[in-house]
Amino acid sequence: MSVITTERHDDVLVIISDNPPVNALGQAVRQGLADGIEEALGDDSVKAVVIRCDGRTFFAGADITEFGKPPQGPGLGDVLDQIEASDKPVVAAIHGTALGGGCEVALACHYRVAVPSAKLGLPEVKLGLIPGAAGTQRLPRVVGAEAALPMVVVGNPIPAKKAESIGLVDRIVGEDSLAEDAIAFAREQIGKPVPRASEGTANRDGVENPAIFDEFRAKHGRKLRGFDAPEAGIQAVKAAGELSYEEGVKKERELFMGLMAGTQSAAMRHYFFAERAANKIEGIAKDIELIPIKKVGVIGAGTMGGGISMNFLSAGIPVTILEMEQEALDRGTGVMRKNYERTALRGRMTGEQVEQAMGLLTSTLDYADLADCDLVIEAVFENMDVKKEVFAKLDETVKQGAILASNTSYLNVDEIATATNRPEYVLGLHFFSPANIMKLLEVVRGDKTSDQVLATCMKLAKKIGKIAVVAGVCDGFIGNRMLSPRQQQANALIMEGANYWEVDEVLLDFGFPMGPFQMSDLAGLDIGWHRDPSRIESVRDALCAMDRRGQKTGAGFYDYDEARQRTPSDDVKKVIAEFAEKQGVEQREISKEEIQERLLYPMVNEGALILEEGMAQRASDIDVVWINGYGWPLYTGGPMFWADTIGLGTVVAGLEKHRERLGEKFKLSQLLADKAAAGERFNG
Ligand code: 3HC
Ligand code: NAI
Repeated sequence: MSVITTERHDDVLVIISDNPPVNALGQAVRQGLADGIEEALGDDSVKAVVIRCDGRTFFAGADITEFGKPPQGPGLGDVLDQIEASDKPVVAAIHGTALGGGCEVALACHYRVAVPSAKLGLPEVKLGLIPGAAGTQRLPRVVGAEAALPMVVVGNPIPAKKAESIGLVDRIVGEDSLAEDAIAFAREQIGKPVPRASEGTANRDGVENPAIFDEFRAKHGRKLRGFDAPEAGIQAVKAAGELSYEEGVKKERELFMGLMAGTQSAAMRHYFFAERAANKIEGIAKDIELIPIKKVGVIGAGTMGGGISMNFLSAGIPVTILEMEQEALDRGTGVMRKNYERTALRGRMTGEQVEQAMGLLTSTLDYADLADCDLVIEAVFENMDVKKEVFAKLDETVKQGAILASNTSYLNVDEIATATNRPEYVLGLHFFSPANIMKLLEVVRGDKTSDQVLATCMKLAKKIGKIAVVAGVCDGFIGNRMLSPRQQQANALIMEGANYWEVDEVLLDFGFPMGPFQMSDLAGLDIGWHRDPSRIESVRDALCAMDRRGQKTGAGFYDYDEARQRTPSDDVKKVIAEFAEKQGVEQREISKEEIQERLLYPMVNEGALILEEGMAQRASDIDVVWINGYGWPLYTGGPMFWADTIGLGTVVAGLEKHRERLGEKFKLSQLLADKAAAGERFNG
């Protein structure tokens, strides 16, 4: 059956796409649209045209799976020109999400009507691209450069109402009557001259006030650092004001093709599919029955317990939080309220929503109040004995059939499960700090965790807005396990003579938001410190004894001024040199290249070990963990995709070159060595 069909409603021809799941604009859809328009133009009795989609959404974009393959005609740009050239009015009838190429279809139509719940946007930038079917040229001509900039350069879709207010949507129609309302609207336009986006003049604003482009760069610079596509987007929108429409389209094409051929877009497209693959668990039936989660318990109202609770409260799921002492309970719930109120102050929540969320919270000192929870998440001190005691109590008090989860960072989830008589209901739910904000959730599958419990938690993760990845039980799971060799090398490098600020800089230049020593300063150097200033066994001990405990004391590895600007400290450099001497490590000049190789290649190796031991389902899951949990730059696609990009042979050769310096525990992954030898990749 064809993906495009047409339907006659007297003098209106309706072109309907049905290409599940998201009506992506693949070859058959493009051909069908071209044929539909031809049918309309060739039939004198047709006076107007409506383009709409069946299923859950209007066209959600070009078919990303076609990218990188030889193009098959007709091209989207040509089809859109054909639509726009029609003298008969063409109306886009939008529901769901008109994204990317889908939004460009809408822009090529003469009119756009949308249901209230619809969204429109040009998210190509999130795939390392800019719109490639004249979207950067038509949009500013309809809504102005200033309104077009965020859509093209940041890429967040806007709701129909906002789209109407900037002139992108002509009419909001009934949520349940789109098909009829669009036909009626089309009929109203018969006989009128058709407005064409390519002939619009709203783009003059950018010519009259060219400062808007630099202002936009300045405002978003930090967030867009390192990405190529946003700058290309700014240039394309600017060109829309400076060049003729035809020249502008040429410019857009040039920029688009340049990005399409680059590594960033390949990496970001990889990530798009990686994030979706992460949600799928191999070997578990899609239709497995899930456990309804109507009430959640949280043990511990500290840093993590509070943040974890907020996720559920915000999603409308009641939480009972338990502590040992009333004081800790009050402090913990007080922090949660403050966090919500801060969000409200920033305008991202209403006061009413704050009260609604907090209203779903119950606090208690009594385990009996957790009896009817469907899921309890433990977030107490990182200590096996304490955790086991908590799980034994939970097993006794919480109803059978409820899931018991631990937020442990490193401890063995299987061992924790032995404290209960229901190991199949036990697993790890490893949130990242701040838990109410960070997107990543490692779902740690124990030896005995049942498929149903795992699948329930994956689904629940989506409900609370997390990106979940399944990990196996091993020291530090996926993320922290890979952090260890990096930290070990960072410490070794400064002993050998690398400046600690250079180690940080290498990672900043690579695209991380922060280097390891900045991170230590932020977290506090005294985490886990023995608190005896006379006992100095590491650089950290020495710095703590000097009261350099990180940002909170105004100094750590770096000195901090009142604005928290950091400067490297000669004193610290001296402490490090003294330590190196004591340990008999000779200090030498170390190149930035060596620093990068020694920080990152061992991580790739650890990732490969994780894969070969079956601790991650797929290489792309590791990429998802590092991008969302640790700020690995998205535009490199994550550690495993980055390794593919530079070549696994390069990684192995680098590891061999530095082997002596990689520490006693270093073990080259056989999987990595084999793949490198065979010229293979981790991802596809
Ligand atoms: N091409 C191919 N497949 C796509 C796709 C696309 N544009 N968009 C989504 N899919 C697939 C997903 O991979 C997923 O497949 P799976 O079920 O096998 O995993 C399936 O459709 C459903 O997608 P989601 O799970 O993401 O469904 P949601 O309902 O959560 O979200 C969505 C729907 C908002 C449309 C989201 O999928 C999305 O953001 N899609 C991408 C939109 C986009 O980036 N469009 C621009 C493309 S580039 C372009 O148009 C260039 C042009 O300018 C020339
Ligand atoms: P925290 O020290 O801030 O909070 C722990 C809370 O648990 C305290 O309020 C304490 O009073 C309470 N508690 C201790 N024993 C208890 C018991 N028997 N019953 C009830 N309450 C008890 O610690 P944080 O940082 O929240 O860590 C908790 C867990 O989360 C640890 O396992 C940690 O490894 C893990 N984790 C921590 C992350 C972080 O960045 N802080 C990130 C991811 C996981």
